[in-house]
Amino acid sequence: MWFVRLLSSSIGKKLIMAATGLLLVLFLITHAAGNATIFMSSDVFQSYADELHSHPLIVLVFSFSLLLIFLCHIVAGLYLFFENRKVSHSRYEVTTRVVKNSFASETMPYTGLIVLLFLFVHIFGFTFSPKDVQISVTVKELLGNFFYALFYIFAFVALTIHLSHGFWSMLQTFGINHPRYNTLISRLTLGIPLFFLLIFGGVALYFMTGLGAHY
Ligand code: HEM
Repeated sequence: MWFVRLLSSSIGKKLIMAATGLLLVLFLITHAAGNATIFMSSDVFQSYADELHSHPLIVLVFSFSLLLIFLCHIVAGLYLFFENRKVSHSRYEVTTRVVKNSFASETMPYTGLIVLLFLFVHIFGFTFSPKDVQISVTVKELLGNFFYALFYIFAFVALTIHLSHGFWSMLQTFGINHPRYNTLISRLTLGIPLFFLLIFGGVALYFMTGLGAHY
């Protein structure tokens, strides 16, 4: 199968990571835009969610594609992690390591695992929430719980760290690396993850602090 063949080469795995990572960032942009409507009013957010669910086929195809993208990202990531570990335990370690060693790059599997754990909790709480309760009410009730919101903020910090290295790595894989653009690239690798932290973390804080109590 072409996917298995692609997975067996290192550059194939890097390409899968980069392409699926890019698609996940695009998903996060649309998700952050949708969630930003929470700050307008519960009615605006609820009509956004209702509009989305008035196209069940599109939602179904989108959800399955997203699941597939997540799975490819995780499987390729695990392969790369174990391959790198094998290399780092071999006597060729010094000559074969080309990845920049920052806190974010060293902790990629762990921050990735925290985001995965978050996704299980998140989808269980929101996507599979009781259908007779409006989603705007579910968001308010779940994030109004201090510890639930705290866990969300912890996961968003992990997501920010994960993205800061992931975005940089994706650009390297795609060959987007030129001294003229390096300042812009550094700003984007920090700016985009912080933008997500601001929106998602802002929503969690809004309910956690009681600001959204009358939502
Ligand atoms: C406070 C921040 C967030 C809020 C309030 C929020 C809200 C929601 C809601 C309400 C849904 C259910 C949509 C529906 O079925 O009606 C949902 C689904 C989902 N969210 Fe979030 N979300 C947040 C952050 C995130 C983050 C950071 C990620 C990714 C790392 C994420 C990934 C997902 C995924 C994968 C789904 C399922 C999408 C699908 O089934 O197609 N969410 N979110």
